[in-house]
This record gives sequence, structure tokens and C-alpha cells, in this order.
Amino acid sequence: MKKAKLTFDGKVIELDVIVGSENEIGIDISRLKTDSGFITLDPGFKNTGSCESKVTFLDGENGVLRYRGYSIEDLANNADFLEVSHLLIYGELPTKKQYKKLLVDIQERSVLDEDVKKILETFPRSAHPMGMLSSLTSSLVAFDPSSVDVTNEEEMYDAFLNLLAKIPILVAWVFRRRRGLPLEYGDFSQGYVENITKMMFKMPNKKYVENKVVVNAINKLLILHADHEQNCSTSTVRIVGSSQAGLFASISSGISALWGRLHGGANQAVLEMLESILNDGGDISAYINKAKDKNDTFRLMGFGHRVYKNFDPRAKIIKKAAHEVLHDLGINDPILDIAKNLEIEASKDQYFIDRKLYPNVDFYSGIIYKALNIPNEMFTVMFALGRLPGWIAHWREMRTKKEPIGRPRQIYTGEKLREFISIDKR
Ligand code: CMC
Repeated sequence: MKKAKLTFDGKVIELDVIVGSENEIGIDISRLKTDSGFITLDPGFKNTGSCESKVTFLDGENGVLRYRGYSIEDLANNADFLEVSHLLIYGELPTKKQYKKLLVDIQERSVLDEDVKKILETFPRSAHPMGMLSSLTSSLVAFDPSSVDVTNEEEMYDAFLNLLAKIPILVAWVFRRRRGLPLEYGDFSQGYVENITKMMFKMPNKKYVENKVVVNAINKLLILHADHEQNCSTSTVRIVGSSQAGLFASISSGISALWGRLHGGANQAVLEMLESILNDGGDISAYINKAKDKNDTFRLMGFGHRVYKNFDPRAKIIKKAAHEVLHDLGINDPILDIAKNLEIEASKDQYFIDRKLYPNVDFYSGIIYKALNIPNEMFTVMFALGRLPGWIAHWREMRTKKEPIGRPRQIYTGEKLREFISIDKR
């Protein structure tokens, strides 16, 4: 094994070097405190690997993304979301037989306790769907408090299928609740994404007619969002699960982490930003200047990425899909032109060039969702639905590898010891 040497205060400390299957190098500092007495400091984990993982490979310099060795381009163009879910969770694409069984097993678990409806109905109709989804996911534990034995593959399979069956129902229900529509159950054996689409869009007064363009677009978006290695929400799922909190509780925390505007919530923020630009008369340069202004907290939403410093391969696929979907649905949305022009203007601007800021996955996805009649506040919920198999895959990996509890250190910069002064003397 290769070793790295760290010299500090006249002391030389040898550290193991871990080499990944794509030759990524990590210096193992897990014994640093024991061997030297000091820790590493890295706010935001900008340069810290939290685990070794076999799920997803990401090369930010070259815009490469692979799930279990398959390129994202290949999967987005050829696979369906349930196949990708199986791939992420179990490491291999399912055979025809496994796929059929998966659908039937999901269908068997696709019922929620009727009392879940009562919980949903207590939310104001104006509540944000991400808050509702996170709370409802957490509430499912109350209806099935048994914990998963992680050494028992059958129990794990059952738990994962429960999530794959029940979360889409919750997604459809929070969508319908906002619109005041009756809550529907579907039939997953008719097709996983087909059923999700039907549960969302079926109207009580009309026969439901499936639109293939809509199903294919949702399928592609779900695949593109399915995993992204140790992002904020996935790290949250892993860290919550590392305390041996249950699967539903861990996933619910992941949903909350995803909600923020710097993470999954960016897709809603992007569309709101593009709409503002349009409503303000289309002055793109004003928004670019605002984003560059250090005295302004505004950022160009859907731009920049912690890992991608060249381009986000998902953004390329989504941009192309946005054109196709709008064309197939016969929609001419000026928002798409604003987005394209914003991308062109930013790509010529030295501020964005110097900082390697490019459109990310969230930049064009909202334009597709909008074309599919999915309202802004549901965008991040759709992201959560897509990320579900990724979260499950990481939770499984973390628990089966018996990773230690996640517990970062800190450098204390507060007051030194001082004496207590009673309230009447302060
Ligand atoms: N607009 C303007 N300036 C930006 C932007 C932006 N969108 N993103 C980064 N910068 C600047 C930032 O001000 C900093 O400048 P300086 O070096 O002069 O201080 C520099 O670029 C580096 O930024 P950072 O904040 O240190 O980078 P980070 O890796 O911590 O943050 C990010 C990554 C994605 C949070 C950030 O780029 C951002 O806030 N983007 C907008 C929100 C967004 O689109 N989020 C979705 C991310 S992708 C999907 C997902 O994770 O869900």
C-alpha cells in the first residue's frame, strides 16, 4: 500500500493511501488524531471523502457520471427508471424475470393506511409539497414501527420495496392535495412510471388517456436524478442512518436536505428566476451583473456545482430533452429562449469562466416540468422521487458495510473557561 507523509511540528506521520477503481486517490486520515493529536478542518466537506462507495462514479473535471459503471447517457437514452433503481440498489440491471417480480412486489405493497390521508388533510392546502412529503414519509414509521434487520436480505428487500411503492403514492397525493383533487391509488403492475404519471394526472371526470411524451420525459428526468454520490441529501441519509435510525426516518431527512435552494430546491428557484427575467422585460445582463455583485446575495440559480468544473452531463441531456418535449407537445415557451440566452451570456462572461460555473442539472429541468403541467413547487418533489433509489442504495451500502456513526470533529473558537455570574450581578 502506498503511503503519504505529513510533517508537522517536527513530527512525521505516515498515512495510508487509498486508490479507487478509477484511480482516484484518497489519503486516509482516520488515525490522524490518535497518532498525532490533531484533526483536519474542511468546512462544507469540500475536500473530504466520507466513505468508499461502489454506487456512482463522478469525474467533475471531464463531466463523467456513471451508475454502477453504466454511463448516464446510455441509461437516460435506453433504460427505464425501475431498471435503474434495481441497478443502483442491487448493483446489476434486472433480468426480465427480476423486473416482472419487482413490479408485482411493488404493486403488492402499494397501499397506505387510510389514516395517512387524515394527516395529509390536516396540512393547509398552501403547504409546500416538500414539507408535506418529508413529514408524511416520516409518519409512515408510525404505521409500521418494525425496524429492518440489515443482515436479512429478505427484510431489506421488503423495506426497499415498501419505499418504492409508497413514496410515489405520497408524491401523487401531495400534488393532488394542492389541486383539491381526490386521492387516487393506481396499479404499478401496468408500469412503474406509467402508474406514477396516472396517479398524478387522472381527473375524476374524465377517462385517463396516457401521453407517451409525458411518461418518457418523466422517466428520463427520474433517471437523471437517481443518484449523484455523496451530495448533501445522500450524505444526510447516510449520516442519519449511521446512528441506526430507521430507513424511513433517514429518507425523510434526505428529503428535507434536498429541499434547500442550493441543492434540489434550485429547480424551483431557476424557473422563478427565469420568470422574473421574462416579466422584467428579458434583461439578462442585469441578472448576470446582480449575480456577480459581491454585495448582493443573489446567485444565478441552476449555475455552478461543487464537483463539476467543466460541464454537468445531466444538464446537456436535459437541455436536449427540453427541446424535444416542447416540440412534441407543440409548446412554444419564451422561458426556454431566456434560459438559452442566459447560458450563452454567462458562458462569455469572465466571472463565470474564471469560476468554472456552468448550467447544472436544475437549470433546464423546470422547463420540462412546466411543459408537463407540473407546478413550480412540485419540481423538487419530482427530484426527490428520482433520488429515492440512490438514497436507498447508499443507505444499504452504509448499513451492510457497518460504517461507524457519522460524527465530525471541530476546532473550538469560543470563550475560554469563565466563572458563572448570577443573574442579579450581570
Ligand atoms: N452565481 C454566481 N456566483 C456563483 C454561483 C452562482 N450560481 N455559484 C458559485 N458562485 C461563485 C461564488 O460566489 C464563489 O465566488 P468567489 O470565489 O468569488 O467567492 C465561487 O463561485 C465558488 O462558489 P462556492 O459557493 O464556493 O462553490 P460551492 O461548491 O460551495 O457551491 C453551489 C456550489 C452549487 C452551491 C453553488 O454553485 C450555487 O450556489 N449555485 C446556485 C444554486 C444551484 O444551482 N444549486 C444546484 C446545484 S446542482 C444540483 C443539486 O445539488 O441539487
